Amino acid sequence: MTDGLDRSPASGSVAATLETIRRSLDEHVDRDARLRAVVRILSASRPYYSWTGIYLLDAGSLVLHNQIGPPTPHERTPIGQGICGLAARERRSVVVPDVTRDPRYLACSLATRSEIVVPIMRGAEVLGEIDVDSDRLDAFGVEDRVLLEGAAALVAGLL
Ligand code: SME
Repeated sequence: MTDGLDRSPASGSVAATLETIRRSLDEHVDRDARLRAVVRILSASRPYYSWTGIYLLDAGSLVLHNQIGPPTPHERTPIGQGICGLAARERRSVVVPDVTRDPRYLACSLATRSEIVVPIMRGAEVLGEIDVDSDRLDAFGVEDRVLLEGAAALVAGLL
């Protein structure tokens, strides 16, 4: 029986998305173009990624490199602030299933309901972060974390 929908396991899988990122890195030589390609591919890979961006660490602050989604007032976040600051300080991925219940959350868009922030690391050193917001409550599960941590490892190789 077929309903015409594509449910092939490879099309939207974590492995397939990471492979698309890997291929795109070969297609661009410029670091900034590569970082923009990573955000573009991640953003397109999951319909519930409402805001996707990469921050790079610069002099103790996380500075927005590029994003897909509405403009954010938080283009520069000190390491001590927000969910972004928390993930950098504790050097771990942070998932916030309901942003209205976390007082550390810094609002980017009023539509955002949940967030995941994954540090970009080289050894124990934080180089930056991948940040994804969703307009869906509790949008992020294990697969998202594995995908974004895999993407962060690829980005670390570019920095
Ligand atoms: N929510 C983040 C700020 C960045 S915006 O979501 C793009 C935080 O709490 O650090």
